[in-house]
Amino acid sequence: MVSMKGKSLIEINHLSLEEIWQIFDLTSSLKQKQITGEEHHLLKGKTLGMIFSKPSTRTRVSFEVGIYHLGGIGLYFNQNDLQLKKSENISDTAIVLSRYLDGIMIRTFDHQDVVDLAKYGSIPVINGLTDLHHPCQVLTDLYTVYEKRRTLRGLKLAYIGDGNNMAHSLLHGCSKVGMDIVIASPSGYMPLKEVVEESKVNADYMGSKIEITDDPVAAVKNADIIYTDVWASMGQEKEALERKKQFMKFQVNPELVKGAKSDYLFMHCLPAHRGEEVVNEVIDSSNSIVFDEAENRLHVQKAIMALVM
Ligand code: CP
Ligand code: NVA
Repeated sequence: MVSMKGKSLIEINHLSLEEIWQIFDLTSSLKQKQITGEEHHLLKGKTLGMIFSKPSTRTRVSFEVGIYHLGGIGLYFNQNDLQLKKSENISDTAIVLSRYLDGIMIRTFDHQDVVDLAKYGSIPVINGLTDLHHPCQVLTDLYTVYEKRRTLRGLKLAYIGDGNNMAHSLLHGCSKVGMDIVIASPSGYMPLKEVVEESKVNADYMGSKIEITDDPVAAVKNADIIYTDVWASMGQEKEALERKKQFMKFQVNPELVKGAKSDYLFMHCLPAHRGEEVVNEVIDSSNSIVFDEAENRLHVQKAIMALVM
């Protein structure tokens, strides 16, 4: 077993395959303990600072409840609560917070802020979403697929939509564990080349495939999992109308999913904009596992915190 103590989780590509499976093993054990009511105070008396510059339902509640289940306490700060990036630079804030806290979870816009917080601080920093990545979500997604299918390697995930933070973390995550991944995005909204290249290195090593296309119908062919996300992410609200036009062909609806395996799993990080990237007939169907996926944020993040803090 490798020790992850003190390690920050900034993007999935910084994790080894062994570390990913260590997170999943502990997740299963903690989930079981919660179900049976067995105490699991692995972080007794520890403190987690939670900084949010964007709104959140799942991330905020699951981290706060999670640290409490582990015997510690979470402190919530929204962007107006701290001096950070207003009257104090990141490095000073990182050093000061490291003297009070045992870990920091941060959701913000600029990915570099998370990198800097980890660089200047001396406690683990967990990325709770940036414009570039959403690692906790994708670790949860992979764990949830594993729960349902008892395997990851060789499965095919088709991501239909914006080449955004979710697409990036899915590229890293799927390629790390040996799943095939196809991203179908409109041209102009494709994932970053750099992330695709990094993921190709992983996929070559694992013997899996990566494909980037603008054809959603071809992408879902024989897919085990269909994944989508909002067309306009937090911070892109002004582009929403234009994006709606560009993305209409990328809606996950009963016609599109016909090409997937009949027992395909539908996944979405949520919040979902029903009627846009997905319609009720799909998200409410028996193929959909979106609420198990949301629940697992709690269990997976408890494992992450217990391992790094
Ligand atoms: N999936 C996700 O991160 O949800 P929230 O924005 O509600 O935290
Ligand atoms: N791409 C979305 C994910 C929300 C969990 C956003 O960044 O708003």
